[in-house]
Amino acid sequence: MSNSIIDHPHEPENHISNQRHLFDMPDDISYLNCAYMGPLMKSAVQAAETGVQYKVQPWTYSGSDFFTYTEQLREIAAKLVNTESDNMALVPSASYGIQVAANNLPLSKGGEILIIKDQFPSHVYPWQEKAKACGGKIVTLERPDNGDWTSAVLQAVTPRTEILALPATHWADGGFLDLEIIGKAARDIGAKLVLDLTQSLGAMPFDIKTVQPDFMVAAGYKWLLGPYTLGYLYVAPQWQDGEPLEHNWMNRKGSEDFSRLVDYQDEFQPGARRFDMGEKSNPAQVMAACAAIRQILDWGVANISATLGARNSRIADHARQLGFLVTEDKFRSPHYIGLEFGASVPEGLAEKLAADNIYVSVRGNSVRVTPHLYNTDADIERLFDALGEG
Ligand SMILES: Cc1ncc(COP(=O)(O)O)c(C=O)c1O
Repeated sequence: MSNSIIDHPHEPENHISNQRHLFDMPDDISYLNCAYMGPLMKSAVQAAETGVQYKVQPWTYSGSDFFTYTEQLREIAAKLVNTESDNMALVPSASYGIQVAANNLPLSKGGEILIIKDQFPSHVYPWQEKAKACGGKIVTLERPDNGDWTSAVLQAVTPRTEILALPATHWADGGFLDLEIIGKAARDIGAKLVLDLTQSLGAMPFDIKTVQPDFMVAAGYKWLLGPYTLGYLYVAPQWQDGEPLEHNWMNRKGSEDFSRLVDYQDEFQPGARRFDMGEKSNPAQVMAACAAIRQILDWGVANISATLGARNSRIADHARQLGFLVTEDKFRSPHYIGLEFGASVPEGLAEKLAADNIYVSVRGNSVRVTPHLYNTDADIERLFDALGEG
């Protein structure tokens, strides 16, 4: 094989060395599927075990613990996106966060919601229902031939566009949307911006203060390397008086005082906390998520992005030499790559690769390859060797 995918002798300073030792990942496993499910690090597993221990010995888990660990998580989730804790809610899924947005944003009769072709369903169904309920309309942006989603979005925005419901990274192939530019375009026409960053948060820099979305949600089990059923919802201050999806006791004012819970309160906890899911205080889950995000902050998201971007550029070059179609690097999120087969993906390819301990996803006509810092050159060589055989 050409050594173009492994030949990288001069690593820039912002590249992170291989981190496989932090994961429980045997050498013969080539896991190239972070976009499907990020693995829990050993440190997160250890944190989860500490959390589970509270359930084993509940007398060690005090009333205040219901709040302290979730507040710690809220704080580091806020740090990750450069906002204040007050603007973050803890939610179980991306769809939950999108539903909060859909329930609270206005949409006029005939008003349009812009989405992109083949968007992930959690960021489509709530908008379809919203459009139905308000007499609005979903406008689906076709895939641009040159791969430039950002320009396509700018061209598609009209005075009728009231909500832009978008990702930063197309989940199928990594197509990139420049949210800073799109955010400005939305503000210029007074449209609202709702983001699902499940496929980019933790792997590609994102700054609330620059993009200024109305709502942003990310499920935590992929690029945030966290447990399943825990995600993060940003709610811009102007929407924080809104209606939560559920009215759970913990989100009401003064719920820290367990002796007065039946002094029912009309007021909520401050900021976006009213949108927190019920039973958010699962210590195993919350502590694992904290450990994972702390490690991501230690690595630095920009450094993660640069490191994964360099690896994926080498993969892209090599794949093109083998005849795969790959979106130009400038229109692709650095951490994400789709190797498109000219015709269709051979039947059973993902299963065949998995039988050789090589894990990728097939999405549409592409093999989706999403490595992380645990991947080695050997993982990539195995993938290409197997694709070559196919
Ligand atoms: C872009 C995107 N959003 C959201 C999700 C998960 O959605 P939910 O958290 O609603 O299950 C996925 C899962 O693959 C995804 O790719």
